[in-house]
Amino acid sequence: MAVAMPAALLLLLLLVAPPAAGSSEAAVRPNPKIVNWVAGNARASTPDSFGSLIFDLSVGTPRQTLSFVMDITEQLVWAQCREHGFAQSQAPTFRPGSSFAPIGCNDTACQSLAQPPDDNCTHPDDHCKYAWDFQRRGSGAMSGYLATETFSFGAKSVPGMVFGCSDNVMVRALGGVSGFAGFSRAPLSLVSQLHVSKFSYFIDHNNGDDSSFLSLGDAGAAQAMGNNSTPLLPATTRQDSYLYYVNLTGIQVDGELLADIQAGTFAVQEDGSGGVFLSTTIPYTFLQEAAYKVLKQELASRIRSQGVAPMNATADDLCFLKENFRSVKVPRLALVFDGADAAMELNVKNYFSIYDEWRTCLTILPSPNGAAAVLGSLLQTGRTMTYDIHGDGGQLTFEPVAAGGSAPAHAGGPDPAPAHAHAGAPAPAHASLVITATLLAWVLLLQQF
Ligand SMILES: *[C@@H]1O[C@H](CO)[C@@H](O)[C@H](O)[C@H]1NC(C)=O
Ligand SMILES: *[C@@H]1O[C@H](CO)[C@@H](O)[C@H](O)[C@H]1NC(C)=O
Ligand SMILES: *[C@@H]1O[C@H](CO)[C@@H](O)[C@H](O)[C@H]1NC(C)=O
Ligand SMILES: *[C@@H]1O[C@H](CO)[C@@H](O)[C@H](O)[C@H]1NC(C)=O
Ligand SMILES: *[C@@H]1O[C@H](CO)[C@@H](O)[C@H](O)[C@H]1NC(C)=O
Repeated sequence: MAVAMPAALLLLLLLVAPPAAGSSEAAVRPNPKIVNWVAGNARASTPDSFGSLIFDLSVGTPRQTLSFVMDITEQLVWAQCREHGFAQSQAPTFRPGSSFAPIGCNDTACQSLAQPPDDNCTHPDDHCKYAWDFQRRGSGAMSGYLATETFSFGAKSVPGMVFGCSDNVMVRALGGVSGFAGFSRAPLSLVSQLHVSKFSYFIDHNNGDDSSFLSLGDAGAAQAMGNNSTPLLPATTRQDSYLYYVNLTGIQVDGELLADIQAGTFAVQEDGSGGVFLSTTIPYTFLQEAAYKVLKQELASRIRSQGVAPMNATADDLCFLKENFRSVKVPRLALVFDGADAAMELNVKNYFSIYDEWRTCLTILPSPNGAAAVLGSLLQTGRTMTYDIHGDGGQLTFEPVAAGGSAPAHAGGPDPAPAHAHAGAPAPAHASLVITATLLAWVLLLQQF
């Protein structure tokens, strides 16, 4: 089924691809520590509702306000530097000013980027170039070079931040954003460069008033008491040391643990396969196939018992006629994590989405054989997520959300059915997502392992 994919979504998905593997040797310059900073103008990506977070950051001298997509799986902070190729003009383009200084290719920061487009560092003053090529998949390319630049956090200016100037963005649309900001454990990410040990975000469900936020430090952080915390697992040697891994131990449907999911299903295997990490740029959630099958069957049978059958029982996904789904009392879903006082109760919007004119689908899919599971951005919307980073471990604290209860006003679009019209059947997220596109992103992501 050919459904036009929003270009911005495509970009978000594709930019998940650049490999993050490599030495995690810190190569960054000393910077004054940012204690508390709340990002300006934090907002959930619109209008496609794929659950990413966009925020403003002040860059350069004189200061320029640029918008970035927060990406917890990526390392580099970059913005489009000037128009070229298909780069879109509706996003502010960074103009290098007086504090902008390109980094030489022999710089340690350049080496920690770990993805040199060429190894032609013949003169130390040569620019440190990077290039990501999606051409083989017909979706464009991006290249640029590293520089140091001054970032401003409120009144505080931080010089010497390593910053990617992407002067050749051959991607059809940036969807109004200037670039991406890596929040991973990698040495060049925003949090690593600032030596921030805690960050929090809240991605709104995207229905009307947008109360999204992003903060560094303690401001807005979910406190562990009363909220639920689980360890952030250090990567094993065969995993990607830049990602945030958690110990998912089970899934509950309507409060009952799915006993058919074997212990260890989500655990990382000796060969590095498996495991569970979080993403803020992959909208859907992918679970190990064995677990997914059990979950899908349980949800399908509980919904079928209400007289509503899945649209295509043989397909991998789980979709219902939108019309019929409205009357369903959607089974409650909760994720169980190691150490958390209580399970993470999900809102229906976190796992069912209006897919197109006809269908409402589960936004959880099976991950390819042997791949890690990904807790996607839609799953995380509507609650504060706080990352405490200690060394290669730390702690994830997640705020409870009112499970299935309050149904925010609908953002518009072709489905005006008020969510509260049916007790127990809150409106699913309205996300025009294309499953194949998500799978494509997933395949790209796999290339890094
Ligand atoms: C490296 O430089 C040589 C000589 O200028 C050039 O032929 C070669 O294509 C360059 N390699 C890459 C990967 O750009
Ligand atoms: C790069 O730096 C290393 C170590 O400082 C040095 O040995 C090497 O000669 C430098 N290479 C260039 C091209 O300047
Ligand atoms: C959870 O954290 C949030 C965000 O800081 C806070 O407002 C809330 O009071 C906490 N909940 C409980 C029950 O402590
Ligand atoms: C049902 O799903 C299967 C497997 O994905 C697919 O081959 C088939 O075409 C689908 N049938 C319909 C009616 O969509
Ligand atoms: C994950 O949690 C389970 C259950 O609490 C525990 O047995 C296991 O050791 C944990 N795994 C890791 C890697 O911490």
